[in-house]
Amino acid sequence: MSSRHDLLFRHATVIDGTCAPRFVADIAVDGDRISAIGRLDGARAEVEIDATGKVAAPGFIDCHTHDDRLLTSAPAMTPKVSQGVTTVITGNCGISLAPLVAADPPSPLDLIGAEGAYRFPSFAAFIEDLVAHPAATNAACLVGHTTLRVGVMDRLDRAATPAEARRMAQMTEEALRAGAIGLSTGTYYPPAAAATAAEIIEVARPLKAHGARYVTHMRNEDDRIIDAMLETFRIGREVGVPVIISHHKLVGVRNYGRSEETLRLLDQTAREQEVCVDCYPYIASSTMLRADRIPLSDRIVIAWSKPLPQTTGRDLADIAREMGVTQEEAVARLRPAGAIYFSMNEADVQRILRSPHTMVGSDGLPHDIKPHPRLWGTFPRVLGHYSRDLGLFSLETAVHKMTGLPAARFGLAERGVLKAGAYADITVFDPATVAERASFDSPATPAAGIDSVLVNGTPVWLRGEATGARPGRVLRHAG
Ligand code: ZN
Ligand code: CU
Repeated sequence: MSSRHDLLFRHATVIDGTCAPRFVADIAVDGDRISAIGRLDGARAEVEIDATGKVAAPGFIDCHTHDDRLLTSAPAMTPKVSQGVTTVITGNCGISLAPLVAADPPSPLDLIGAEGAYRFPSFAAFIEDLVAHPAATNAACLVGHTTLRVGVMDRLDRAATPAEARRMAQMTEEALRAGAIGLSTGTYYPPAAAATAAEIIEVARPLKAHGARYVTHMRNEDDRIIDAMLETFRIGREVGVPVIISHHKLVGVRNYGRSEETLRLLDQTAREQEVCVDCYPYIASSTMLRADRIPLSDRIVIAWSKPLPQTTGRDLADIAREMGVTQEEAVARLRPAGAIYFSMNEADVQRILRSPHTMVGSDGLPHDIKPHPRLWGTFPRVLGHYSRDLGLFSLETAVHKMTGLPAARFGLAERGVLKAGAYADITVFDPATVAERASFDSPATPAAGIDSVLVNGTPVWLRGEATGARPGRVLRHAG
């Protein structure tokens, strides 16, 4: 091996993404790959970075995002790169930007699409656009069932007819051929709530032949969560594909503590079929504003409102009081809108994060005016707050949940691990200081302690600042 390299990290503490214990080594990068890891005393490089005392990990994979449009509208991907994320998985919760041409799509599609955003008649056209306009991070894309429904059905308050389901299955097939890594659903949301399991099974049918995944924001995450999980597992079994439950949580005070029950069911099921979950490390959720969440939440904060933008960042209860109306009536006046709901229990969040089936995903909403801080803070919060400060799990485990585990579960080949020959997606951070600085009051704040981030061998973040490089690629599943 030549001792001249493109880039060299010296004396890094390597946490390789597999859960293996850390070790000190140099890392050499050539082109888009890691060329060597070990003692490379004689080696030289164009760029040499002293990583003494720092951890070098695989670049983080944000396995739950709504970044479909962000990748081209703000390709620096600063909320992600600044926390060490090198790959985003888009199209979650049934919502993908393609394939759909629509001027004014219904909620929740408006979470990612302002006017004119839904402009891709095929999934291939969307992928081509991503390839033609690279972002700082890689992207792996899901196709959303709700997006398909909006494109195919004249009314959304009913199940699809067999002909409509067949049409959606053809569109799934087209998306998979174009490079989609799976199908997502969001039966929690009104435009897909009337979809039956039979409809979803039909639409998901093409997944198996492509080695793709079924990912779901389930019908219910409160009182009827067990039924929703059983439905999800059944769909996975009948289609014959791995299942990923999105942002696993329990909503509403009367469901606090029930993660014991859901994780027991998950453990049991994982012995018979491939299942896992993603989770963001907060007790507040965020999505479109809806009145049925009022009784389930301790507090609701407005993230954006189209008719009343001046309410952004304020409590719904205060807004309703000032209007002199019920909170339900205030919701009607604020919509279309997005909100942050304080409706979870810390013990559940910790129990779910600890599960060996749990990956880290931000579920960040990058187009919200005042977003949930998970958009900027998820990964450093798991590394700093939950692993280092609370000791919920080792740093090796924390890194695995954001690298090796999601790479394996989403079929992203040669990513998520640090080893010679793998793609050089690398995040170097300071284990003593890594922390989220994004808060509910000032959510758009970069993390502390993220030093250097490489995507496909190219630095996108150096010494705490964006480099402006855009080496991101579209990743296809490995099967
Ligand atoms: Zn969701
Ligand atoms: Cu989501």
